[in-house]
Amino acid sequence: MNIVHLIKIRTMIGIRYSTRLVVLMFGIVIKIPLSRRGYLQCKNEIRMWERYKHLNVLGQLYWECGGIICMRRYAAVDVLISETEAHKFIDTVIGIKHLIPEFDIDKCDLYRAENWGRSGDDYVLIDYGINEYISGLY
Ligand SMILES: Nc1ncnc2c1ncn2[C@@H]1O[C@H](COP(=O)(O)OP(=O)(O)OP(=O)(O)O)[C@@H](O)[C@H]1O
Ligand SMILES: [Mg+2]
Repeated sequence: MNIVHLIKIRTMIGIRYSTRLVVLMFGIVIKIPLSRRGYLQCKNEIRMWERYKHLNVLGQLYWECGGIICMRRYAAVDVLISETEAHKFIDTVIGIKHLIPEFDIDKCDLYRAENWGRSGDDYVLIDYGINEYISGLY
């Protein structure tokens, strides 16, 4: 196996953690709660998915089991390259706040690009487990 293969594998598999341990695998992401808040976020994420999947703006959730969820993996939104892109991103955030009343809260970090993924030319929300009660836990 040469260096190019090793780099490819490094970008294919990854781990992030905060309230949840997030394991990024080839085409999927597994989110495992690390705290009560993380557990509530996962439970709420599946609820939100069931309620709003028809809007085509939430990252596709494959299954939830005992607070662990499996989501489709999306390309990261690291930088917004052009001004047009930045405008489109802001419009998407404003739009989702109108469509989904649960997100119209003060402590909502929807403007953080890390919580979004790319699907073709569109943005999809990949971290949508938060609500007013959960955001107030700490
Ligand atoms: N579906 C996905 N596709 C690609 N990357 C993802 C996906 N879901 C999560 N990630 C990556 O994992 C990170 C953490 O995931 P997520 O935000 O859902 O966890 P969290 O527990 O809510 O963390 P935080 O409290 O930091 O927001 C994201 O910022 C993103 O980089
Ligand atoms: Mg997040």
